[in-house]
Amino acid sequence: MTKILVTGGLGFIGSHICVSLLEKNYNVIVIDSLINSDEDNLLSIKKICKFSNNFSNHITFFKGDIKDKELLINIFESSIEDNNPIDAVIHLAGLKSVKESVEQPLEYWETNVFGTMILLEAMKKYNCKKIVFSSSATIYKPIIDELITENSALGPISPYGSTKLAVENMLGDLIKSKPNEWRITNLRYFNPVGAHISGLLGENPKGRPNNLFPILLKVASGEYEKLSIFGNDWPTHDGTCIRDYIHVMDLAEAHISALDLILKSSPFFLNLNIGTGKGKSVLEVVETFKKVNRCEFKYAFNSRREGDSPYVVADNRLALSKLDWKPKRNIDDMCRDAWNWKFKSKK
Ligand code: UFG
Repeated sequence: MTKILVTGGLGFIGSHICVSLLEKNYNVIVIDSLINSDEDNLLSIKKICKFSNNFSNHITFFKGDIKDKELLINIFESSIEDNNPIDAVIHLAGLKSVKESVEQPLEYWETNVFGTMILLEAMKKYNCKKIVFSSSATIYKPIIDELITENSALGPISPYGSTKLAVENMLGDLIKSKPNEWRITNLRYFNPVGAHISGLLGENPKGRPNNLFPILLKVASGEYEKLSIFGNDWPTHDGTCIRDYIHVMDLAEAHISALDLILKSSPFFLNLNIGTGKGKSVLEVVETFKKVNRCEFKYAFNSRREGDSPYVVADNRLALSKLDWKPKRNIDDMCRDAWNWKFKSKK
């Protein structure tokens, strides 16, 4: 059975990837520090997979940090001793708040960059040289009104974005050093939202959320009084910012397809934009959410948020051509599934 190590596998995106991996009959090892995730997600993953197949026991969880060299060595070595070495890594573990990264840049460099270095050293030591890395659209220089291609100018404007780009560069140097050995795919996520259709997994950030969907859920459930929309004077059709929202299960499926590619192709280094190629404004998301979930809530326009760009939408044609994948779920599905999770999980 092909064995995959998923770092950060109990987080929002990681937990959905684990479901997709188990459904495809992979053997999954998760390492997660639980800093921004919940151990309950492990039970939810098993529950979902029990409904659809019998592979819920093919997942092993280690609580810990990727900076913990001993733990990584232990994980890689015990897999070899069991005669089932780790074939590839999906690497998501890291800190991900743009705002927090501005306040605590060193923590971001330490966890995201130094942590990845420790992971890559362990991978190299145990001859596991296939990795799908969780990168981000935030590494691109802001541009107005144009789809972002993988060749668009790079220029992150936050320490979070700088650390993602630094890891991509580190992976690039690695493949240059041993072009015939490593297989690396950087998936540059746009705005992952939504939840598993079962309502058992969703986005539940610890502390006060900063992103639109977790806030929207709190407003719609009455926990927050109203949604603050950051700016109505942007150069867009309704004055609010446009983003490329992608359903988290479509994103999870993109990882499976990227994994299939690195497991069977010859060595390569690939950067892929993972988005739908369609932009929605904040107002359009709000109206869709209200319509599909038949709910009402208040919103008010506020000043622009520092660091926002008016338009961030993927040109996803390279991903569509390289991967056996296309996004299947639309913004209605994203709003409905997110609300279904909020309602069922009561989180
Ligand atoms: N927004 C509001 N009110 C809120 C929260 C958000 O109007 O209370 C708006 C933002 O201004 C933005 C849109 O909703 O226009 C989406 O904002 P998010 O914070 O949800 O997402 P961002 O596009 O700012 O950032 C996200 C991820 C980053 C990632 C980036 C990639 O959070 O990690 O997409 O483009 F790097």
